[in-house]
Amino acid sequence: MPVSIKKKLEDLRENLRYHAYQYYVLDDPELPDVEYDRLYRQLLDLEKKHPALISSSSPTQRVGSKPLSAFGQIQHQLPMLSLDNVFNEEELHAFDQRVHDRLMHDEEIEYTAEPKLDGLAISLRYEKGALIYAATRGDGSMGENVTQNIRTMKSVPLVLLGKDYPDVLEVRGEVFMPKVGFEALNRQARLNEEKEFANPRNAAAGSLRQLDPKVTAKRPLSIYCYSTGVVEGGKLAGNTHYEILQQLQTFGLPVCREIKRVKGVKACLSYYENILNNRDALPYDIDGIVYKVDAIAFQHRLGFVARAPRWAIAHKFPAQEEISHILDIDFQVGRTGAITPVARLDPVFVGGVTVSNATLHNMDEIRRKDVRVGDQVIVRRAGDVIPEVVRVVPGSRKQSSVQIQMLNHCPVCGSDIEQLEGEATARCTGGLYCSAQRAEAIKHFASRKAMDIDGLGNKLIEQLVDESLISTPADLFQLSFDSLVSLERMGDKSASNLLAALEKSKQPTLAKFLYALGIREVGETTAMNLANAFMSLSTIQETDIDQLLEVQDIGPIVAQHIVSFFQQPHNLDVIDQLQSAGIKIKENKQQKLISDVASELTGKTIVITGTLPAMSRGEAKEKLLAVGAKVTGSVSTKTDYLLAGDNAGSKLSKAEKLGVKIINLDNMLALLGV
Ligand code: IVH
Repeated sequence: MPVSIKKKLEDLRENLRYHAYQYYVLDDPELPDVEYDRLYRQLLDLEKKHPALISSSSPTQRVGSKPLSAFGQIQHQLPMLSLDNVFNEEELHAFDQRVHDRLMHDEEIEYTAEPKLDGLAISLRYEKGALIYAATRGDGSMGENVTQNIRTMKSVPLVLLGKDYPDVLEVRGEVFMPKVGFEALNRQARLNEEKEFANPRNAAAGSLRQLDPKVTAKRPLSIYCYSTGVVEGGKLAGNTHYEILQQLQTFGLPVCREIKRVKGVKACLSYYENILNNRDALPYDIDGIVYKVDAIAFQHRLGFVARAPRWAIAHKFPAQEEISHILDIDFQVGRTGAITPVARLDPVFVGGVTVSNATLHNMDEIRRKDVRVGDQVIVRRAGDVIPEVVRVVPGSRKQSSVQIQMLNHCPVCGSDIEQLEGEATARCTGGLYCSAQRAEAIKHFASRKAMDIDGLGNKLIEQLVDESLISTPADLFQLSFDSLVSLERMGDKSASNLLAALEKSKQPTLAKFLYALGIREVGETTAMNLANAFMSLSTIQETDIDQLLEVQDIGPIVAQHIVSFFQQPHNLDVIDQLQSAGIKIKENKQQKLISDVASELTGKTIVITGTLPAMSRGEAKEKLLAVGAKVTGSVSTKTDYLLAGDNAGSKLSKAEKLGVKIINLDNMLALLGV
């Protein structure tokens, strides 16, 4: 009996190791996560029943129970080396030349080219296939014992796979934090009002230096192995670095998949360019490329100087962070009214280009980072992302530095700036008037769900704005045939069609008109609710926050946006101009108070899916909203009805699963009392 339990335990563990290998090393999981979790729980249960059979190499034993009081020291049997750097083509050629000269070799040298990961070096020691310890590089000869923490990383095998490993195998690699994990960790730190990590490397190092392995276990750390240390009692198969890395991978050790063999400097450089150009798309941070002479025999002949091998070199990418100083701060107004502070800098070469402007994102960031004019700051430019001011260089503040005055009025149009509680972005409230927002406001105004002006596409709107033919939505109605045909690519026919479409659009429903104004957060549904509740534009213009809050689905933020919008004289001017241009808001039959049209569906939450037989989903939605039903996008336990047409897919199956009532269009019309 115990024998079979032992066997069962071992089988389960082996199975879990195999699937962890598929997942972490090959990036090719065979099992869905839930199935893996099931196997894992099975193992946990069985071990709980038979605690004597728990072994430290079991996948359940990754997180040790006791925090350490300090890390022990580990003497590296073979030193952990560092790398020399080159920063350009010329220096790389010189390196390659030195290799040729020493080897007295005429042909092009084969190199393994690898991303230079931006984390921290680790040595893992396996004896008879079991992980014995893990140590940091330290000073190269003495490192810290971080075994407890490394064991919590699921990508590090506690037991090597297969049987072909040497008795003693030291593997060296880089522990790093993938970008996504880093961002999530910092997001959480912000929420908890804790200090954020400056970059993924610091985050990885900080996570490994935790004395409590339970903390490390929660950190998203990964590892890629890139070389070996001590190898005893057996050999690695392969005469090249590349083959050895492949063998490490068969032992279950993760190896970076971008690694390639290249021949000669030219191929090294094209590998470099290629990775540099795709750097942003990689899930982890790198700061260069490492080239290693591939043939192990050559490596032995080349040997070492001081702490670095002669057979490898790091080709660094241009720095992504540099120091500059702030000359001034300007405020820019974006196309949606967002106000962005931009620092004017002493030009500085960073991320491969000269940067003289860097964003400070929003006014809260200025306060948080306490940035002042005259400060020395760290500027970051990563890939195609716009350059940003990361932080003030500590201790660099001069007496003469000047605090930045926050704005109350839009620097473009003078309208009030509004920043709602809980929102990072401050915005100009002159949506209809502000020239920075013109084109976007008019595009929205003319769009299908708003004023539905046929033939007035985004390109044409931009052309009209660029030629200064329009600056507010009201100007659209002043356009003449002559001014239109004078535009490039505009024929007589299109011009008269557009004028006809403008004429036709002059009788919007109140809901559509409200929606067309582009008040922040006022989408179609909110516009419809407003129209139903207030029935006329003038009432809405004069309403206050309390009254707005009584309307279905209107919360404090939307209410504030609505009030602010109608407080701006410029916006009111545009509305007046629209009305003088002949816009007549249609008396809408549906603009009755909800209580008057109460139906079975009033107050119910409905999701619409599939193709309806006799009307569009938009029309069905309008009908539902008109009786005070709520139309939402996804099915949940809060959904009362699913209105399903033809070819309904996942929403239908979800509704069935949750037991949500499913109706067709006829049922809906009946419930509406139509
Ligand atoms: S090889 C002899 N390969 O860069 C082997 N190092 O600046 C020496 N690093 O301490 C290291 N990615 O922490 C090597 N693919 C890679 C690497 C890499 C990152 C780090 C490593 C090393 C440092 C040297």
